[in-house]
Amino acid sequence: MITTKAPGKLYIAGEYAVLEQNCPAILVALNSFVRVTIAKSIGTTGIIHSKQYQQDSIHWTRQGTKMVIDNRDNPFEYILSAINFTEQFALEQSIPLALYDLHVNSDLDSADGKKYGLGSSAAVTVATVKAILAFYQIEASNDLIFKLSALSHYSVQKNGSAGDIAASVYGGWLAYQTFDKDWLKAELEVKTLSEVVGEAWPGLKIQVLTPPEDLHLVIGWSQKPASTSRLVDQTNAKKKTIQPEYNAFLQQSRRCVLEMIKGFDHNDIALIQKKIRANRKLLRRFAKMNQIAIEIPRLNRLITIAEHFGGAAKTSGAGNGDCGIVLADGHTNIEAMKMEWRKNGILPLNFWVHSII
Ligand code: PMV
Ligand code: MG
Repeated sequence: MITTKAPGKLYIAGEYAVLEQNCPAILVALNSFVRVTIAKSIGTTGIIHSKQYQQDSIHWTRQGTKMVIDNRDNPFEYILSAINFTEQFALEQSIPLALYDLHVNSDLDSADGKKYGLGSSAAVTVATVKAILAFYQIEASNDLIFKLSALSHYSVQKNGSAGDIAASVYGGWLAYQTFDKDWLKAELEVKTLSEVVGEAWPGLKIQVLTPPEDLHLVIGWSQKPASTSRLVDQTNAKKKTIQPEYNAFLQQSRRCVLEMIKGFDHNDIALIQKKIRANRKLLRRFAKMNQIAIEIPRLNRLITIAEHFGGAAKTSGAGNGDCGIVLADGHTNIEAMKMEWRKNGILPLNFWVHSII
C-alpha cells in the first residue's frame, strides 16, 4: 500500500491578476493535507472512495432547453481527471496498467464538512497524481507532478491560474506566474502528453521565497464558503467591457507583487506589509469595476481588527468568503487579535506554513 499527501494553500497576494501571464502572485502551502492511499485490488473491481467528499448537492445552469451541470466543485471529477492524465502518461512509457483501490482522506475541510477554501481541489489532484505515479513506480520530479496536475485540474475547472497546484507541489512560500494556455492547448493537439510535459512551458515561473524570520502569518476564516470558479467566470466575462481599467489593474498588481517579492529577498517585513495593504486596495477597486463582492462585511471586519493590532491584512484568494490573512511582525498581539476576531464571528485557523524540504 502506498500513501501520498499534498498540502492545501492560501494566496497571499496577486489574486485575479495571476490569471494572466506575466503577473506574479505569492502563495503559501499549509500543514493541512489531502492524503491518498493506493493498493492493488484483490477482486475484479477497483474502488475509488473519498471519506469527506460525499456530494449532497449539484450546481446547474439553464442553457436553452438544456440543463448544464457544473461539476467543478465535485472533487471526484478532479480525482478521475488526475487518474486519466497520469495513466495516459504511464501508457506512453509502455507501463502495463492495473486495477487498484484508491482512498482519499482530506483534512482541508473541517470535520463537519465546512469548506475553508484552502484549495482542496488542487491538493486532491496533486495527491492523486503522486499516488498513481508511485503505484506505477514512475520516478517524478516536482516539475512533472506540477504539469500533470495542472493539466488534470484545468481540464475540469476550465479556468484558474494553477497557482494553487504549484503551492501544493512545491510547498513553503512561492512566487508564481502562470503559463500560456493557448500555447499549451495547441501543443496538446499535435504532440503526445509525454512530449508536452517534457517541454518548458512559456510564461510559467515558480520561485521559492524565504520569509523573514520574524514574519507571522495569521489566518482567519469568515465561516462563509465561496466558489472561486464561479467568481472567475464572472470576472472573465466582464474583462472586455472594462479593458482600460482591467489593464491598469494588471500592471499595478504586477508592480505591487514584484515589490513584495523584493521585501522577501531583503528580509524587509515593513515593505511586505506595505505591499499587502496596497494589494488590498487594488483588489477592492477590482471588485468594484467587476461589480462583485470580494471583501464581504465579515472579511472587512477581519481586516479592520487585524489592522487595529498593527498587522497588514487582506482577503485571500478569490474572496467573497473563505479566508483573510494577516502578516504581522513581533509587535502584534496575535492572541488579543484572535480573541477580537472570535467576538466578531471570525474563526482563527491554526495552520502553519508547510515546507516540503
Ligand atoms: O479562492 P482561491 O484561494 O482558490 O484563490 C483564487 C485566486 C484567483 O486568482 C482568483 C484564481 C486563480 O486560479 O488564480
Ligand atoms: Mg476561495
